[in-house]
Amino acid sequence: MCGIIGYTGTAPAVDILMQGLATLEYRGYDSAGVAVVTGNGNPRVRVVKRAGKLSNLREILDGTWLEGRTGVGHTRWATHGEPSDRNSHPHQDSDGDLAVIHNGIFENFAELKSELIADGHEFASDTDTEVIAHLIGRHSDGLARGPEALADAVRAALRRVEGAFAVAVVDRRSPDTIVASRREAPLVLGHLDGASLLSSDVAGLIRYTRDVEALLDDQVAILTPQGITITDLDGNRSEGHRYTVDWDVDVAEKQGYEHFMLKEIHEQPAALRETLLGRTRDGRIALDEQRLDDDDFCHLDKVYVVACGTSFHAGMVAKYALEHWARVPVEVEIASEFRYRDPILTPHTVVVAISQSGETADTLAAAAHARAQRAKVVAISNVVGSSLAREADAVLYTRAGPEIAVASTKAFTTQILALELLALFLAQLRRAMFPEEWQDQLQRMAALPELMEQVFGQESAIRQLAATVAHASYVMFVGRQVGLPIALEGALKLKEISYLHAEGFPAGEMKHGPIALIEQGGPVVALATAGHVRGKIVSNIQEVKARGATVIAIATEGDTEIKAHADHVIYVPEVHELLYPMLTVVPLQLLAYFIATELGCDVDQPRNLAKTVTVE
Ligand code: G6P
Repeated sequence: MCGIIGYTGTAPAVDILMQGLATLEYRGYDSAGVAVVTGNGNPRVRVVKRAGKLSNLREILDGTWLEGRTGVGHTRWATHGEPSDRNSHPHQDSDGDLAVIHNGIFENFAELKSELIADGHEFASDTDTEVIAHLIGRHSDGLARGPEALADAVRAALRRVEGAFAVAVVDRRSPDTIVASRREAPLVLGHLDGASLLSSDVAGLIRYTRDVEALLDDQVAILTPQGITITDLDGNRSEGHRYTVDWDVDVAEKQGYEHFMLKEIHEQPAALRETLLGRTRDGRIALDEQRLDDDDFCHLDKVYVVACGTSFHAGMVAKYALEHWARVPVEVEIASEFRYRDPILTPHTVVVAISQSGETADTLAAAAHARAQRAKVVAISNVVGSSLAREADAVLYTRAGPEIAVASTKAFTTQILALELLALFLAQLRRAMFPEEWQDQLQRMAALPELMEQVFGQESAIRQLAATVAHASYVMFVGRQVGLPIALEGALKLKEISYLHAEGFPAGEMKHGPIALIEQGGPVVALATAGHVRGKIVSNIQEVKARGATVIAIATEGDTEIKAHADHVIYVPEVHELLYPMLTVVPLQLLAYFIATELGCDVDQPRNLAKTVTVE
């Protein structure tokens, strides 16, 4: 995890670094720090860092004179070493000549550290990162000064490390330079006149430039105010993936909402519209990128869906659509489990890897494993040019725009829509649906954004309901069929941001155990929209009501009969059964949000979590 930022140019570096870190804070917020090359005649690297949120660092920087035009900044999500001042980044080598920031894990750091200690190096922190600072330091001793010499030392050190990383280094002996590299962790470079930037994601750069370049695995970038050169680990000239960003800086700001999460919940209708835009070409549904023949899809015999967290729940919804529409067997699996199993993968298997960020380590590893077994990988991602998108055989982008709140909302609903588009795409190629049928479904999807807007009409009722639920000792969520992943997602949202104990269950399983937990008045949220399992859900509602539960039902508009069974009803408009998840999750997102604010929780940056998990 962690966010990294770097700037070299003509402006005061610290201002740009702090601005960038504010944008990247969603990636981790255990501690933050900056390193700036100061002083003209006798440059030195000054490091200021502090445990806790960025505001702690801002406070000390306010009273610190830190002038310099080259620097790097870091916001941390701890992996090695507790969150503390001493473990905060940047880390320095023995002489304090250079400073390093790092996102990821150096897996062989213990072995390298012992080697360095035997060599007389002393360490000031418990981190794996400090090891690379010392290694680079050791390789730069005796080398000439300047950007190339620093790059040589970085390349030599990186050839020794194992694991995933994005690193950036500044050195007083090459004062206008940042050297950066990555392996399996994101790093984007920003090109502009008279300055160069780097960041963990595009949101950290777009205030300054739209001309960006994703660094690829094992490439080394040398940034100076005059421009950026890229090499491989052996020093041969190379190129990243350069492209122009097409979204605006204000998309990444709050626009008057109290929290990013609430803003992003409200952005969902617009995001769904974007996801759907221009999806048919020459009378066919089209993916964004397809490096496969249509035949590969026609002859597939099995689909695995792999993902983590909220994306996994979107994958669970996809199973119903892929099986129902495309008539292909589907298994959905948590990426971190899939990668260590020995799943049966053949050239006729398609693995659909879902990741909002496209950088989640476990999902990337699952996709890589699938490709190594010659299975085909289709990526569903929100980030153009992300690692997952680049590695996949085909890509469908969700186009939700940047999602800043740690708790995922608009990424989720757009993932479901993209996955259902993929199901229609496969159904079409495999002739599992008549053209009128998939066209009909596309039309139903096109109506979704407007129908979702109607759900927001109940926002104040949901807020009031949240106030009554906030002080419960637990909340249960139950659903069946496509309602089940939404029950799981509703529970995940609530526990992530309010720390309330929340669990989702298949409604039919309640009587096999979980019903024992029901207390008098304990809230149970039931997904009870119209469809072939509605009657079954009503029976399950009666079972929990009989044991004292307070039931909140999510039902289809016009279903007045449900009021006889539930204590509270939140209505959503009627849609096709497979489209309900995109509507029913909205009240659950709002419920989680209002409960969290009622309890005074830090909604956008919940404790212990991070937005993008680039470590195992
Ligand atoms: C983290 C985030 C979740 C997200 C999951 C998968 O745990 O906090 O919100 O669902 O990672 O992220 P991805 O970017 O792969 O969808």
